[in-house]
Amino acid sequence: VKFSERGLALSGKKALVSAGPTYEAIDPVRFIGNHSSGKMGYAIAAQLKELGADVTLISGPCALKNPEGVLKISVTSAAEMLVACEEHFQAADIVVMSAAVADYTPINVATQKIKKKENEFAIELKKTVDILATLGAKKSEQQLLIGFALETNNELENAKDKLIRKNLDFIVLNSMQDKGAGFATDTNKVTIIERSGNIHEFSLKSKEEVAEDICSIIVNLS
Ligand code: CTP
Ligand code: CA
Repeated sequence: VKFSERGLALSGKKALVSAGPTYEAIDPVRFIGNHSSGKMGYAIAAQLKELGADVTLISGPCALKNPEGVLKISVTSAAEMLVACEEHFQAADIVVMSAAVADYTPINVATQKIKKKENEFAIELKKTVDILATLGAKKSEQQLLIGFALETNNELENAKDKLIRKNLDFIVLNSMQDKGAGFATDTNKVTIIERSGNIHEFSLKSKEEVAEDICSIIVNLS
């Protein structure tokens, strides 16, 4: 799509994007995190803004510059991300959950630094709330809800299952099988599966280009 043709396809629309990892505290100095850089979500937020949308970005801890004109809300844990997403969900026409939300969080957070003692040490974890599924259950007909799936095996089948289970309009399957795709890289290789059954396969591209592909499908469905 040429820049001139793109115009302001999403002006008047409100978008909500989540990005980055979450950090789940173990004690005051330690946490459970992941390698998400936030690049994919920030690129999507920037692209939606460029297309004219009013964009709110809910970001876990990462070292990226806030895209110009985007309202950024910084959060740390999955629980905080849930609260911020729920707060902004109703007003949003387009919601893209690209954050790498922790699946488990420590049951107890020590108030003091945990000292080393035994040779073995275990941390008890409990499941976090699935933010995307929570939003999917509340979604109205007018809202577009987009999720990601990170898979290493049975990729298509697992992604389709998430699409249905979480009530999404489309899901972006991140292939981890390709070198140069996934976390902490500048490129991604994705397959987009629409609720309608349409499947779009893309080549290995920069995350900015992947954001353009994702947003052009958003524009088509808006
Ligand atoms: N997600 C979320 N809240 C969680 C976990 C995941 O909103 N607590 C969202 C992610 O932002 C992503 C989608 O759900 O858009 C899929 O994440 P993924 O980790 O691939 O799938 P899970 O459902 O967590 O299942 P699993 O990790 O077991 O594959
Ligand atoms: Ca997960």
